[in-house]
Amino acid sequence: MTTSTPGTTEANLTQLEYLALNATVNVADGHARQELTETQKRIIDDLPTLFAKAAGEPLEELERSAQQTFLTTFGQHRYPTGPDRVLSCYASSVAMEILARSLAGTVTTVGLIHPTFDNIPDILRGMGLRLTPIEESLLAGGDLDAGVPPEVGALFITTPNNPTGTVLAEDRLRLVARLCRERDIVLCLDTSFRGFDYRAQYDHYAVLEAVGCRYVVIEDSGKLWPTLDLKVGMLVSSENVGLPVPEVYSDILLGVSPFILALVERFARDAADGGLDELHEHIAGNRRVLRETLAGIPGVSFPDEDSRVSVERVAIPRSSGSQLFERLQRQNVYVLPGRQFHWADPERGEDTIRVALARSRGTVAAAAAELRSVLLG
Ligand SMILES: Cc1ncc(COP(=O)(O)O)c(C=O)c1O
Repeated sequence: MTTSTPGTTEANLTQLEYLALNATVNVADGHARQELTETQKRIIDDLPTLFAKAAGEPLEELERSAQQTFLTTFGQHRYPTGPDRVLSCYASSVAMEILARSLAGTVTTVGLIHPTFDNIPDILRGMGLRLTPIEESLLAGGDLDAGVPPEVGALFITTPNNPTGTVLAEDRLRLVARLCRERDIVLCLDTSFRGFDYRAQYDHYAVLEAVGCRYVVIEDSGKLWPTLDLKVGMLVSSENVGLPVPEVYSDILLGVSPFILALVERFARDAADGGLDELHEHIAGNRRVLRETLAGIPGVSFPDEDSRVSVERVAIPRSSGSQLFERLQRQNVYVLPGRQFHWADPERGEDTIRVALARSRGTVAAAAAELRSVLLG
């Protein structure tokens, strides 16, 4: 992959992630690049069998089974099961694109969580949707009725959020869903990082169905397992969603490879059989290495103390995140600057960088050591 090199402050996050793909130390993108566990290695050793199974089974059955296994592994039992209610996509960004196109005909303004990963606002804006920022603090504990502007026709929340790891608690989801039902707002959730945090694995669909609001949820296998980006995004919508989601989907996709669906199902089964605990321990260990290596550097702190997701923000008040990105880049070490996550107010992200933790322990240790040396230099 080659792209032209954009300036650090103007580039979008994915452009900065491209730069990191061939770097000595890449802790930029949030994709899963840690080593396979022993049981995951066995799945990979068994790929020819998996391929034969995928080629031989009726697609509908295989897809239903993969979706059910994936969703129930993460506590999502009450998801809608009618025709076209769960649509498999090659990535959550593809699901996002389909959602944005589906909204564009009927919705003018989207209330979008702030901060969040910048391809979400970019895709929504690309469809001509107007955005208004909804601060995480409002969602966590504020007055929703007063805080969500009346023009909002869809409300988009990333939970757990990227980069902060903040989880929308069950009682808050219920309140948000009620507000959406009262105002006929389409509630949209991106739960790509759900697998890292048991607190995000209560049954969201049970809450949404009980309230009866219109909703769309983007589920994602892509952040969890080191499957070389073989992944699925699932676009789940309520019976009453009132958007042309299946029609837009059919403009873009026939479906995803049955081989990938079968692979995701096997990784989900492994997660349910203890793999998830192992993954959580790995991420927690990497977070510890990063925090311990940077401990004691004047002014450096970790704003998301309670985060369990596979990325970690580091606050660096003595320089800007964009400058630090460039200084690290000279050492062939890639992080992400915080600026672009603050899509409505980039300056607010200047005092942070984001470090990816879904890496081998050695990669995180090397990144942390270089970061320490640059911060102290
Ligand atoms: C919250 C969130 N949703 C969606 C995406 C897009 O994922 P993908 O690149 O697999 O399409 C990202 C990427 O990091 C993300 O952070």
